[in-house]
Formats: sequence, C-alpha cells, structure tokens
Amino acid sequence: MELKQTINPENVPQHVAIIMDGNGRWAKQQGEDRLFGHHEGVNSVREIVEACGEIGVKYLTLYAFSTENWNRPKEEVDGLMELLVNTISMETPNLHKKGVKLEVIGDLASLPGTCQQELEESMAVTKDNTRVTLVLALSYSSKWEITESVKQIAAKVVSGAIKINDINPRLIEEHLKTNRYPDPELMIRTSGEHRISNFLLWQLAYAEFYFTDVLWPDFRKEDFYKAILSYQNRERRFGKTSEQITQS
Ligand code: FPP
Repeated sequence: MELKQTINPENVPQHVAIIMDGNGRWAKQQGEDRLFGHHEGVNSVREIVEACGEIGVKYLTLYAFSTENWNRPKEEVDGLMELLVNTISMETPNLHKKGVKLEVIGDLASLPGTCQQELEESMAVTKDNTRVTLVLALSYSSKWEITESVKQIAAKVVSGAIKINDINPRLIEEHLKTNRYPDPELMIRTSGEHRISNFLLWQLAYAEFYFTDVLWPDFRKEDFYKAILSYQNRERRFGKTSEQITQS
C-alpha cells in the first residue's frame, strides 16, 4: 500500500512548520556551490506544498530566511533573494491554481524592494484561496518577533489602552505575527540537526518534533508522509497523564 493511504485523515496536523536545512551540504556532495542546493530546495518546497493540499494540512510554515542568515556571505544572500523573487514570480500562477494562499512573517522591510514587491503581488493574487496557507518566514526570528510584540504591548500600557494585569498568554499571542494561525502541531527539521534555531519559540510550546537525516533538496512527499505518520503514532498529553488522555 502507498504510504499516503496509511495516513489517518482524522488526525492530520492542521499546521506543520519546517526548518528546511541541508541545502549547502547537499550541494557540496554534488561538487556544486551552495546556491545550487538552494535552487534544488525549491523543488522540495513545491512537492511539500502539494502534499499538504493532498492530505489536508491547512497551514505550512517554512523557515526560508532567518534574521541570522543576513550574516552569510553577500553573494549567498543576494543569490537567495534573487531565487526568492524568481520563485515567487514563477510559482504564483501554480500556487493560485492549486488553491494556495501565500502569507509572510518576518521583518519584511529589511528585504530588497523587488522582493517585497513580488511578495505583495503574490499575496494579493492568492488572498482568497483557502486550501492551504503557505507561510514563508523571511528575515524572521522568534526573538525578534517576541521583542516586537513586547514593544507593542508596552506602548499600549504606557498610553493607558491596557493595564499590566491585562497581559496574559492570549494577549501576547494576539501580538505575534502568527496571530492568524493555530499553533503548529508538528515541526520538522531536515539534515540531522536537532535544534530549533530561533524558530517559533512560543508557538512550538506543545508541538511534536520530527528530525530526519534527509537533506532538504532530497526531502520529498514520501519523507513528508513518514513525518505525518510518526506524528500520528504519538500520544499528545499537554501536561496530562497518559491515563487522563485515554479516558477522555
Ligand atoms: C538551509 O540550508 C536553507 C536555507 C537557509 C534557505 C532555504 C531556502 C530555500 C529552500 C529556497 C527558497 C525557498 C522558497 C520558499 C522559495 P543551509 O544553507 O543552512 O544548508 P547547510 O546547513 O547544509 O549549509
């Protein structure tokens, strides 16, 4: 039986977050430069977005460029930005046809103008789609996001719009860039690294983590289905006991 057929449609995570890692190592194995790995990584992105549509994952957040990635060599950063602009421009008709809505979290103002423009256009074209929401984390880091939210909340306290005692987890969530999405139930990281790397620190509080040695450009639908099946075999307790979960 095909792996996809063994997935329980009743227990598919609503939101999957992925740290797409290993493009550079994959390229090195092929004797190519790092940008070649990023280009190949786009094929994996396409497949995984499709797979989400096929099995009913409603939100997919991809860590495409972190705040820390700005420190990479200039030619890699420029190459990644160019790849992003070209990919968004080429893929938007396909995303739209497949019912995918594109959204972005991160410090968009820090991206090159062409990149911002391409993203704005794609988001406008796909805004009414409902099958899958593809969220690109771009110039994103969780500490940046939380800091921004703290500043906004502090400003509201200072202006008198809210009181200190109004601050609670829900209010904090409302000020995060992800306030339109449910928290991811599953976080996948490729390439054998077991780190969270400043990604969705708040939102992943109760997520299941899935790590695989597969490098991102080799990560395809079958690998994604394996991650979903692993998730379906776990017991999510949210701090309760196993007995409490099975009795309810
Ligand atoms: C990490 O691999 C990957 C990135 C920093 C960039 C990810 C970008 C893409 C997959 C392409 C563009 C994406 C979209 C959504 C259009 P790495 O470079 O850290 O690899 P390494 O750890 O092997 O060096």
